[in-house]
Amino acid sequence: MIFSIDTSCDETSVAITDNHRVLGHLEYTQIQTHQQWGGVVPSLAKRAHEERIDEIILLVCKKTVQHNKPLFLSKTKNASPIDTVFNKVDHIAVTYGPGLAIALEVGIRKAIGLAKKYNKSLIRVNHMEGHAYSCFTQNKNGNPTHIFNFPYLVLLVSGAHTELLVLEDHLKFRMLGETRDDAAGEALDKAARMLGFQYPGGPVLERLANLSDKKDHYHFHRPMWDSKDLDFSFSGLKTAIFNKLRTMDEEQKSAAVKELSYAFQEAIVESILHKVEMAVQQTGITRLAVGGGVIANKYLRTKLRQLMKKHHGEVFFPPEHYLTSDNAAMIGVAAYYKVKRGEIVEDLKDLDRVPRLSLAWIKASFPVDWENAYT
Ligand code: KG4
Ligand code: ZN
Repeated sequence: MIFSIDTSCDETSVAITDNHRVLGHLEYTQIQTHQQWGGVVPSLAKRAHEERIDEIILLVCKKTVQHNKPLFLSKTKNASPIDTVFNKVDHIAVTYGPGLAIALEVGIRKAIGLAKKYNKSLIRVNHMEGHAYSCFTQNKNGNPTHIFNFPYLVLLVSGAHTELLVLEDHLKFRMLGETRDDAAGEALDKAARMLGFQYPGGPVLERLANLSDKKDHYHFHRPMWDSKDLDFSFSGLKTAIFNKLRTMDEEQKSAAVKELSYAFQEAIVESILHKVEMAVQQTGITRLAVGGGVIANKYLRTKLRQLMKKHHGEVFFPPEHYLTSDNAAMIGVAAYYKVKRGEIVEDLKDLDRVPRLSLAWIKASFPVDWENAYT
């Protein structure tokens, strides 16, 4: 049983997992704190994490004990929910990067404090490992089930990352491509801001796009379309919408906002799909696991489903909505495989945040000899 914490960005999240099963989880979102600033402000994120984390730990422990009574039968009368949980927990997992340094520190300090107090071992987890494993998370009853069949293609699309990888075995990631500038979510957020909407912009653009006539009137360019590699680039799209908006007065803008949202979302989705299809063709891998906040987008999900169907493959999404955005449950599930590999922090002094932590254990060099890569 693993108690996990993630404070990498603007969600204070805590979870209790057992193998792949999530026994309890809680995410406190700071969106309202950051909304007026148009993005996440690190110092405000740190303060909000500090203010909330103890309360969230207490709440998640209470909730988990209540919802899993047979598992947490306590011999001690009147034991606090936190003591009851830590009586059963084997390890504590914490995100150590990538993310905002001063936000990560809050979770790490709390994890170290709990590890000392309850004499538990610590596991450090890469936040992006978590997003990849969010697809393989189960509810407390063990659903959905998944029989692992490596390798998988992994697409991670969030506010800070856009990455395409191969998961060759548990926790063994080969990087195929990543964004050279802005992440997909970041581009959606910035475009929404230019259109006058608050952070986070992705859901707003999706809603507006759904209200449009669903025709691509503006046809923004598809970045890196002809590049042979599997990298992405989204900052040019931001400039493209900026330039378009400059030619419009306020009345024209408000008349066009739905169609602009549709066209922008379409450019992002098509660019992602194109690289995923190239990856399927180059690697021959037809099982795709997808994670990260942008995958909350239903249109992107539908398009990915269609793409993988065309290639007679399968696509795996996080099974519940809370698993798309930042959460500690996915950290707990990834940590389970770290424990299996014996990857436990030996000395608590060695546990430090790594804000620019990367996921790749192998950086693929092109062209890759895929035919021999997985035989
Ligand atoms: O994974 P996440 O919660 O945080 C990071 O680790 O970055 O991702 C947040 C990103 C934001 O850019 C947000 O606009 C985007 O996910 N997002 C969406 C949707 N919901 C959240 N993008 C498109 N469509 C959505 N429905
Ligand atoms: Zn994330």
